[in-house]
Amino acid sequence: MAFMTVCASTHSAEALADAVDRAVALLTAGEPVALPTETVYGLAADALRAEAVARIFEAKERPFFDPLIVHLPDVEWLELVASIPAKSRALVDGLTMRFWPGPLTLVLPRKGIVPDIVTSGLETVAVRMSAHPVFNEIAKLFGKPLAAPSANRFGRISPTTAAHVMSELNGRIKLVVDGGPAAHGVESTIVAVEGDALRILRSGPVSSEQLAEFGRICRFEKGHKLEAPGQLESHYAPRTPLKLQLPGAVSGEAATGDVGLLAWSGVAEPHKFACVEILSPTADLREAAATLFSKMRRLDEASVRLIVAEPVPERGLGVAIMDRLRRAAHSTAL
Ligand code: TXA
Ligand code: MG
Repeated sequence: MAFMTVCASTHSAEALADAVDRAVALLTAGEPVALPTETVYGLAADALRAEAVARIFEAKERPFFDPLIVHLPDVEWLELVASIPAKSRALVDGLTMRFWPGPLTLVLPRKGIVPDIVTSGLETVAVRMSAHPVFNEIAKLFGKPLAAPSANRFGRISPTTAAHVMSELNGRIKLVVDGGPAAHGVESTIVAVEGDALRILRSGPVSSEQLAEFGRICRFEKGHKLEAPGQLESHYAPRTPLKLQLPGAVSGEAATGDVGLLAWSGVAEPHKFACVEILSPTADLREAAATLFSKMRRLDEASVRLIVAEPVPERGLGVAIMDRLRRAAHSTAL
């Protein structure tokens, strides 16, 4: 192993102060550090130093064509890293006032201060402000924007706890700051700002219904250029093959005793499955999103041959959940 990875607790005021100091010292030295955000854990580094950002790609084994989100220490940084076209001004102000800090990422024309490695050479930059108090404290003390993708190895399930990060990146980074389980559990909603309209590049905790109050939402036309490689069909993948299907439809297959079930809110025939995880016994989409990746990970670790995932209602947060399940199914196509 290249490094011993330290997992720093933030449970007491003293532990928090120590974790914050260590994180800021490493970031200042150009090292990547895993930090909690309200969506999923991120692997953060100084967004304005290309060689620090390169270390993120190295630790994640992420291809350089996949650009990173820049997390701002405060809203004043927005216009230092991005330009806001006059036509987009009212929309951007409305969105940032309503949703920042929080799980909404805006894609805007970039400024030259942002290194190419962050944007993969695109003329745009993705920006957000995290609402996690530990992330914010570190970002404010560090005083500069942090580039931070999800803290998993490329293509794999995003981490929603510090333990998940350890299992993905142990020995590859020096520090994980444990800020407890991520509140939302799915990655931020990404929107491209196009004049006075929006294009949703990735569904997430901020729903299209919420966004529609601020501006017209453009739809993707068939053949539209892929702008966010997070839109790759294969992503968020467990190692075990995953099928999106109603549990009743796999009765025959489940009889082999080595099928796991990721259920929505209940199970009719639990005995048919080797293991069962229920996303939300009370049919609450928020709870389902918050626990989706941990439950997927638990089934992946259960040594089953196949994971059957049951669809959830596709409204509000359910859109983001179904998006992640479809990609997981696509990545592991049998
Ligand atoms: O909730 C989140 O957004 C988490 C936390 C850590 O903030 N981050 C996250 O980062 O999910 P990542 O790297 O796993 O996903 C970022 C997505 C990628 O799909 C990337 O292609 C897209 O953002 N992206 C980044 N810059 C872009 C740009 N200029 N234009 C279009 N898409 C962009
Ligand atoms: Mg990711």
